[in-house]
Amino acid sequence: MGRVIAIVNQKGGVGKTTTAINLSSALGIFEKKTLLIDFDPQGNSSSGVGIERDNPNVYEALIGAISISDVIKSSPILETLDVIPSNMDLSGAEIELVKEYSREYKLKNIVDEVRDDYEYIIIDCPPSLGLLTVNALSASTDVVIPIQCEYYALEGVSQLLNTIRLIKKNLNKELNIMGILLTLYDKRLNLSQQVAKEVRRYFQKQVFDSIIHRGVKLSEAPSFGKSIFHYDIKSRGAKHYLALAKEVIER
Ligand SMILES: Nc1ncnc2c1ncn2[C@@H]1O[C@H](COP(=O)(O)OP(=O)(O)OP(=O)(O)O)[C@@H](O)[C@H]1O
Ligand SMILES: [Mg+2]
Repeated sequence: MGRVIAIVNQKGGVGKTTTAINLSSALGIFEKKTLLIDFDPQGNSSSGVGIERDNPNVYEALIGAISISDVIKSSPILETLDVIPSNMDLSGAEIELVKEYSREYKLKNIVDEVRDDYEYIIIDCPPSLGLLTVNALSASTDVVIPIQCEYYALEGVSQLLNTIRLIKKNLNKELNIMGILLTLYDKRLNLSQQVAKEVRRYFQKQVFDSIIHRGVKLSEAPSFGKSIFHYDIKSRGAKHYLALAKEVIER
C-alpha cells in the first residue's frame, strides 16, 4: 500500500503547493506511480500541473456525488503522475461536513479506495487547521511540514504539532511526521541562515537535509502549468526537489 503524505502548515505562503507539485513530479520522474490530490479550494496545485480547476473535482468525490475513479485525471506532464483537481466548491465542504457522520474520515474513505494503485499519494492542504486539514491528516501515513526561512517562521508550528498529536491520538494512530522542509531560503540573508540553524537545532534529525532556496524559476513554473522539471530542469529548484524526493523515498 502506498504512502500518503500530507503537505501541511496553516501558515499561508510557505511553499506547500510548490512542494506538492514538485515533490509529486519528482517522485513520478523516479518512476514511482504518484497521485497528487489538490485539497485546497484555491486549486493552485491543479493548475500548477496543467489541469483546469473544472469539474469533476475532489469535492464531488468527497460528498459521494461521483466515484473517485471518475475524478482522477492523468497529468499532462508525466505518465507516472495522476491528479485529483480541486476548486472553490471545496470551500463549502468545511461547513457542510460539520453535521455529517464520521466527518473527519471523508477523504480517508475515498483515498483508501485507490491506495493500492499508487506508491505515493501527495495531499496539498489549505492554509488552515480546519476540517479539510483534519481530513487530510486522518487520511495520511506521513506529514511533511514546510517552514519558510523568514520572519515568524516558527509562528503557529507548536499549534500545528499539537494538532498532529491530537489526530494521532484520536483519529489516526498510523500518522508520522516524515520531516520538516526548509523553504524560501535565501543564502544572502543572515535571517535565512539563522532561521535554518534554529529550526535544525530544535527539530534536529526531523529536518530534511535538502533545503529549497528562493528562486524565480520555482515561482514562474506554475503559471505555465509545469513542474520545475518541465520548466527548467537545470535550475537549482529542480536539483533540490529531486534531492528531496530521494530523501522521501529513503525515509
Ligand atoms: N522556493 C521558492 N522560490 C520562489 N518562490 C517561491 C518558492 N516557493 C514558493 N514560492 C512562491 O511563493 C508563493 C507561495 O508559495 P505556495 O503557493 O507554494 O505556498 P502555499 O503554502 O501553498 O500557500 P497557501 O498557504 O496560500 O496555499 C507562490 O507565489 C510561489 O510561487
Ligand atoms: Mg497552497
